[in-house]
Parts: sequence; structure tokens; C-alpha cells
Amino acid sequence: MNHILAVRDLRKQFTLHTIDGRTVTSLRGVDVDVRAGEHVALAGPSGAGKSSLLRCIHRSYLPDSGSIQLTTPDGTLELTGLADREMARVRGRELGYVAQFLSAPPRTGPWEVVAAAARRRGLSGDAARDAAADSLRRLALDEALWDVDCSVLSGGERQRVNIAAGTVAPPRLLLLDEPVSALDPDNRERALELIASLSARGVAVLAVFHDLDAICRLASRVLVFADGRIAAEGAPSDVLEVAA
Ligand SMILES: Nc1ncnc2c1ncn2[C@@H]1O[C@H](COP(=O)(O)OP(=O)(O)OP(=O)(O)O)[C@@H](O)[C@H]1O
Ligand SMILES: [Mg+2]
Repeated sequence: MNHILAVRDLRKQFTLHTIDGRTVTSLRGVDVDVRAGEHVALAGPSGAGKSSLLRCIHRSYLPDSGSIQLTTPDGTLELTGLADREMARVRGRELGYVAQFLSAPPRTGPWEVVAAAARRRGLSGDAARDAAADSLRRLALDEALWDVDCSVLSGGERQRVNIAAGTVAPPRLLLLDEPVSALDPDNRERALELIASLSARGVAVLAVFHDLDAICRLASRVLVFADGRIAAEGAPSDVLEVAA
């Protein structure tokens, strides 16, 4: 089926050691497939497990069990079986992850953050800097800010740097977690256009959006999460009443 991502029976539970060892289950057996060029949206109420799924794919969380397969030019990799070091390499080269907020190394400016992401995806020297400049320009980040410390940026500016880093030198699989939540309408529009253009270039996208308009415009399929499971799945127009 030409899948870029195939997730099977993914499970994740947290033990809260500070609260009597109580457990919280965020994923109760989740299956997801995403093909090249396909944009799959994740919807459903707060706490249903959407971010946990993206974090497990990115290995910010280690799943308890299940399979996460990523197809690359080197073949299909079982991500849950990779050592941390190999996972870091695959993550840098093949995955773009746009979390809601940017965490940049100290004393690093937007241009360098985005160029570093481009280098991890295989561009070198000037090509990486040029690609980063294109991305920042496309998202209308004021050039006066390109070399300032990211910590001084506003929420919306950080979010645009994060989108630029996630999408520059396009990754094979793009993971988006509420990527436009802090943007004004014009900047939101630019970001959504950029994301749509990546699908057209064959990037597989798995995205959490709170606004239904973005899902309808970008996604061909929606997975509606409820309590750690996929409760419904289908075309946006068929399932969004469930998600709303
Ligand atoms: N690091 C963690 N430690 C303990 N519990 C966690 C952790 N991360 C997530 N959870 C729990 O797992 C459940 C799913 O959380 P998750 O962040 O995946 O939800 P979500 O669908 O992304 O919600 P939202 O729409 O509010 O972002 C929640 O009950 C949450 O409290
Ligand atoms: Mg979330």
C-alpha cells in the first residue's frame, strides 16, 4: 500500500510516582497508516491521546508496546526497535515535528535553528542557510529577527520558526501538533498554504488541528480519538460532527 508510516496496536501508560503510583493510560491500542502525500488529521477531545501518539512516533515518549514502521529509502524501519542514537539520526533526517512551542538551544537565532534542521535533512552549508531563509520568508518572519535569540520572540513568532524548522528541506513524515494555534489570520493562512504545498510534494502528514476549517482544507482523512482509541475514521465531512 506504499505506506510511509504504519502504526499497529500502540499502547502507552504513565505511572504517576508522585501520586501513589496511580496510572494514566493515553494510548489503548492505536493503528494508523499514512501514505506519501497523504494528510491525516487527528481530532477528538482534550486528553484523548492525540499528542501522545505524535510523541511516541517522535520518541519523546517510549511506547509500552506496539509497532511503528517508517518506510525510508533504506527500507522499512521498526522505530520501536531502534537504539536511541539511531532513532536520533532517523528523527533528524526523516521526521519533522512541530510541537506547539519552540524549544531552541540557548543563544540561537531563528535562521540558525531552521538551517540546523535543514542540515539534519541532508543539505549542507549555503544550501541549508538558503533553504532556511526561504522558509522564514515564506512564513513572513521579520528579517530583523532572524539572528536574535529565540527566547525573545513572541508566541506567534516562535510558532513560525517551529513550522519553518519542521518543514524546511521537507521531511518524509511531518508531525504537527496544533501548529497554528498562536497565529493571527494572515500568518495562519501562510502556514496552512505551506503545509498544503508539502502534501503536493509527497510529504506524509499527521496533524492535530483544533479548528475544523483547517482539517477540512488540508486533510483527506480524519481519525477521531476518544479515551486513547480511534473511535471513528473517515473523510472530514463524514466524521467531523463526531469530532466537534
Ligand atoms: N508525561 C505524561 N505524564 C502523565 N500523563 C500524561 C503525560 N502525557 C500525557 N499524559 C496523559 O495522557 C492523556 C492523553 O494526553 P495527550 O496529551 O495525548 O492528549 P491530547 O489528545 O493531545 O489532548 P489536548 O487536545 O488537550 O492536547 C491525558 O490524560 C494526559 O494527562
Ligand atoms: Mg495535545
